[in-house]
Amino acid sequence: MEKVMLNNGVTMPVLGFGVFQIPDAKECERCVLDAIEVGYRSIDTAQIYGNEEAVGRAAEKSGVPREELFLTTKVWISNGGYEKAKASIDESLRRLRTDYLDLLLIHQPFNDYYGTYRAMEEANRAGKVRAIGVSNFYPDRFVDLAEFCEIRPAVNQVETHVFHQQEKVREVMEKYGTRMESWGPFAEGRNGFFSNPVLKGIGEKYGKTPAQTALRFLIQRGIIAIPKTTHRERMEENFNVFDFALSQEDMGAIARLDRGESLFLCHRDPESVLYLINYGKQ
Ligand SMILES: NC(=O)c1ccc[n+]([C@@H]2O[C@H](COP(=O)([O-])OP(=O)(O)OC[C@H]3O[C@@H](n4cnc5c(N)ncnc54)[C@H](OP(=O)(O)O)[C@@H]3O)[C@@H](O)[C@H]2O)c1
Repeated sequence: MEKVMLNNGVTMPVLGFGVFQIPDAKECERCVLDAIEVGYRSIDTAQIYGNEEAVGRAAEKSGVPREELFLTTKVWISNGGYEKAKASIDESLRRLRTDYLDLLLIHQPFNDYYGTYRAMEEANRAGKVRAIGVSNFYPDRFVDLAEFCEIRPAVNQVETHVFHQQEKVREVMEKYGTRMESWGPFAEGRNGFFSNPVLKGIGEKYGKTPAQTALRFLIQRGIIAIPKTTHRERMEENFNVFDFALSQEDMGAIARLDRGESLFLCHRDPESVLYLINYGKQ
């Protein structure tokens, strides 16, 4: 598995497995066990996904040594602020059955995320977390935090895929050594993702599917990807992307698919902010 080096020297697999929208504990445990058997070593969960315990059980059951796994979780909005975030990090560690996380992110740029980040810096210094970063931070909020924090974010996990390529955001992050990580690498199938003629045509030249072609497009630009699937054969398909390389010409053709806007939501739109703040509340 190819790895990338983060700005604090920690290495992270360039391809991982995401578990958003697998709320059922048994199903999630089965998926993570399958993914680890297929060869994935990096698992991306979050407090709000409600499946940290299932991920922790699967990691333990897999028999793979802890140091060979790379576990990411994210602090949710309702755990924002120093004290709450601090307590929630210990809760995540307990649920994930581990005494350290490999990567911890602020899930959304809302609530007292400065306080949250201070708790994360402290956890990093205490050895509870190997690397810290953010998610869904647009360039303005990202620069503001990166300028005033003590430990520069190692990662910013943002929506990015062939239809929303985020090159400008990546340029801003590069100044701080922050690595871009893609959520929704397939845009969750939106906009006819898996039957896109450009991805299909290019993939066929290499004997690859649109999903594999899209992952390769991210990986060749140094972007970490964490595709999600509940199907084992798709886990294998998505994992099998290290035996080919897209040509410059193909990279250029895929670059032209960029629409320059989200296929999901805008984090600057008040309605969306409220939606996220209320997400998961009873
Ligand atoms: N930080 C954030 O705010 C944030 C937001 C969203 C996601 N994430 C993270 O990013 C991960 C990935 O994003 P995502 O889950 O939103 O979406 P995604 O990975 O872009 O797409 C997942 C969808 O694609 C389907 N799929 C997967 N592989 C396929 C293949 N080879 N062929 C055809 N269909 C395929 C899956 O279906 P099946 O499952 O039915 O196979 C599922 O419907 C998440 O799991 C989560 O860890 C983070």
